[in-house]
Amino acid sequence: MYKTIYFIYITIFCCTAVVNAQANRQIIISTKHTSLVLATGANNRVYQLYLGARFSNDDDNRLIPDSKHEAYIAGGMEDLLQPAIRLTHSDGNPSLELKYVSHTEKKLNDNVLETDITLQDPKYPLRVILHYLAFDNEDIIKSWTEIKNDEKGEVSLENYASSMLHFEAKDYWLTQFHGDWASEMKMQESKLTSGIKEIDSKLGTRTDMYQTPVFYLALNKPADETNGELIAGTLAWTGNFQFHFEVDERNSLRVISGINPYASAYKLKNGETFETPAFIFTYSTAGKGQASRNLHKWARNYGVPDGNKPRLTLLNNWEATHVNFDEKILVGLFDNATTLGVDLFLLDDGWFGNKYPRNNDKEGLGDWQENKLKLPDGIGYLVKQAEDRGIKFGIWLEPEMVNPKSELYEKHPDWILKLPNRDENYQRNQLVLDLTNPKVADYVYHTVVDILSKNKGLAYIKWDCNRSMSNTWSPYLKNRQSALFVDYTLSLYKILERIRQEYPHLPMMLCSGGGGRTDYGALKYFTEFWPSDDTEPLERLYIQWGYSNFFPALTISSHVTSWGKQSIKFRTDVAMLDKLGYDIKVSNMTDQELQFSRQAIINYKRLSDIIWFGDLYRIISPYDENRMVVMYISENKSKAVLFNFNLNTRYKEVFNRVRLQGLDSRKLYKIAETNLMPGTKSTLTENGHVFSGDYLMTMGLNLTPGKLKPLNSMVIEVNEEN
Ligand code: GLA
Repeated sequence: MYKTIYFIYITIFCCTAVVNAQANRQIIISTKHTSLVLATGANNRVYQLYLGARFSNDDDNRLIPDSKHEAYIAGGMEDLLQPAIRLTHSDGNPSLELKYVSHTEKKLNDNVLETDITLQDPKYPLRVILHYLAFDNEDIIKSWTEIKNDEKGEVSLENYASSMLHFEAKDYWLTQFHGDWASEMKMQESKLTSGIKEIDSKLGTRTDMYQTPVFYLALNKPADETNGELIAGTLAWTGNFQFHFEVDERNSLRVISGINPYASAYKLKNGETFETPAFIFTYSTAGKGQASRNLHKWARNYGVPDGNKPRLTLLNNWEATHVNFDEKILVGLFDNATTLGVDLFLLDDGWFGNKYPRNNDKEGLGDWQENKLKLPDGIGYLVKQAEDRGIKFGIWLEPEMVNPKSELYEKHPDWILKLPNRDENYQRNQLVLDLTNPKVADYVYHTVVDILSKNKGLAYIKWDCNRSMSNTWSPYLKNRQSALFVDYTLSLYKILERIRQEYPHLPMMLCSGGGGRTDYGALKYFTEFWPSDDTEPLERLYIQWGYSNFFPALTISSHVTSWGKQSIKFRTDVAMLDKLGYDIKVSNMTDQELQFSRQAIINYKRLSDIIWFGDLYRIISPYDENRMVVMYISENKSKAVLFNFNLNTRYKEVFNRVRLQGLDSRKLYKIAETNLMPGTKSTLTENGHVFSGDYLMTMGLNLTPGKLKPLNSMVIEVNEEN
């Protein structure tokens, strides 16, 4: 006994001594379950001591041993791997040393604490401020960096990360999400090996077409939905991004997240400050599911406009008509929307352009006047017709783009990004406007607000962006071309900020030829996003599964279309997983399909509060089995909705019972299948039965009773029985 106490005393004494030697000033950034502990060293630089589960006794932070991992490594000094920041001073010196100056802690409200750490180069008036917002309840840390140049001359920023984090684990498992048009968010997991792994985009606009700025990093072993230690991270930036993972010679990992420095050296004049976008992350000891729920909660409370308010169901005309419609056809479709029972009609591409009518994707983009042949009475008339039928009306815009065959191109050839002495390079026959030019930014802003102010009652905007940047050069930036990628995105944000000041609650969908823009930088301004042009429901399940890892259901637009040969029920059940809409020829539906769809919308309206604002449990992954099972449950655990999808199941394939998650083990719940085709009965053996939460989470349910049917689905309500 005596010996044990003596041993503990020595251990604590030794650790404290070491802590004092280097980490003499601790800066602790904590949420309810997570702590990021930084400390100044004897050399007055700032080090990351710890990132992980918060100790039950915060005083234990004092016992954390010192660390050699500088929190925000500056390039050109003694560290020889990838720095967080690298710059060239005004006198040409390519090195930077960052020493602690001060730090502040500010309680923004009961839930959010801001910590700002000011660092400075001892030899140059160059300051770096590391900002951290800790969201207590959501277990989210949002971090970004400001770089302030007080040197007399210009400083050139070569690398300027939002965040640098260090890890020490036996192994590191990275889950990334990649794809292409119509196959977004494919999930891939790999073990990091020694050296560098980078995930990045250089696409400019439509920046996430190949890689989405999100990842999971599991420590020691791969994490699953319910087990494992990991962080989930995402960069809030609608432009080129880079995640840099580097395992060094001692098996430590540094993760650097930020704007992609590719072709983007950024010049800072005297007195200027550069602010990076935010890296948002959460740490979980209970697998990916918990990490997703943290992000969803954060997004609803802080990340998207009106995140705790309902969304509108809608009928879109893109799949039904493409650009071939007129006023009469549209008003006819409004009647379809009311028959279905949705809230809004969304008019897609093809309504504009007169000298160059938008009758295909080769012309008209940029000329945002109603086409007089198609819409002789204008948008105002359509708004009115929709309102007369009790629904709202919205339109599609692609305000950052131009077809060479357009009046806008003819009038302002200098408003367009294109290289001198090179041929124009088209994607979908279009070019990108030069948003770095304030006149162009103003034009884009006015395009949107003028349509809104001229057409009172216009209730929804779908904002598209159908190409990446290539042959990129700004006539406006002249000899400052390396600012283009960054300034373009900053200008886009300013435009959106101005629009949001006037229309703070307007529902707006972020779209980029499918899921080419899906990040929390843009989602600050958009209520939802279009995840993919691929609406074939089997493919969609994987895509929606992918997005659900980082984005809450109410932001993920999912429409019932006629892609795929699956039944209307399967297609609808898939769309009901997230934010339900329709993009289908209602007139082609059979009576039974229409009757089913009308009831499905009624069901969705009953369940949408749980889907939009509840907690998501991904129970069985389509990557693991030939089925996908997920459940949403209300915060008070009284109402849940369970979705089961059989995929391309094989003859006599055997599925186990499904254990539910997230219920209250002591509550009693009634199981009731809903969304059945008219005239059919539930095949669920347990339908209508009452079980304890404990039973449902331990014994589970048989979700594949009888003969196994491929591409078959079930929606089950799990309601507390009083
Ligand atoms: C993009 C969008 C589609 C549709 C078309 C219109 O491809 O992703 O949903 O709006 O543009 O041209």
